[in-house]
Amino acid sequence: MNLDIFTLFPEAFDWFREQRPVRKAIENGASFNTRDYREWTPLKGGRVDDSPYGGGAGMVLRVDVVDAALNGVYGDGDRPRTVVLTPAGRNLDESLVTELAAEPTLALLSGRYEGFDHRVHEHLADDEVSIGEYVLAGGELPAMVVADTIMRRLPGALGDAESAVEESFSDALDGLPEYPHYTRPPEYRGWKIPEVLISGDHGKVREWRQEQSISRGEAREGR
Ligand SMILES: C[S@@+](CC[C@H](N)C(=O)[O-])C[C@H]1O[C@@H](n2cnc3c(N)ncnc32)[C@H](O)[C@@H]1O
Repeated sequence: MNLDIFTLFPEAFDWFREQRPVRKAIENGASFNTRDYREWTPLKGGRVDDSPYGGGAGMVLRVDVVDAALNGVYGDGDRPRTVVLTPAGRNLDESLVTELAAEPTLALLSGRYEGFDHRVHEHLADDEVSIGEYVLAGGELPAMVVADTIMRRLPGALGDAESAVEESFSDALDGLPEYPHYTRPPEYRGWKIPEVLISGDHGKVREWRQEQSISRGEAREGR
């Protein structure tokens, strides 16, 4: 998998790139690239934005700038699946992650200011994706969220001791939240772990975990 993040702040990803599971995924053949819109902008002085038609506060990222950056990276031929990050997009969930993780190359367009000229959404992007119904100052954190959840699924990204199979919202858990985990000590300040977990009865442990996932799922529904 080849992940290209288009951004005005490539340095924001320096820490992220060094963290597991991203570092491990890269060591195992994935690529993670930041692409600075300013490198390809056709405008003078590295300019990338302009004021909105119709008036109003804030600046808007220009369509010609984004198109030039995509052309600069992919040339005139086919472009990879291109996702524009926006609070108004489709909510990121496990099924969307599965879909995106299957792409050989994925471009994530990270915005700033008031966001993008809408022609970027209409003509340059294949999908609009949101990480939740709130507004952040920029698309760098959303891009990291999307990249993290995709890259931890790639071969070699997680160590043997970790597993992405039986996790919250996975098929293995029928799309339910994961059951709770406990570790030593078995009692702390009077707070005991559930007896069943030290019973040695694997069938009962499995049953208890399933019940916990179901009741956590019901609790989420009720919120
Ligand atoms: C300040 S926001 C723009 C908000 C936009 N004016 C609106 O009201 O929908 C700037 C950029 O941050 C990113 N962003 C902010 N919140 C986001 C979210 N919840 N999900 C995905 N991207 C987000 C987008 O890339 C957006 O272009």
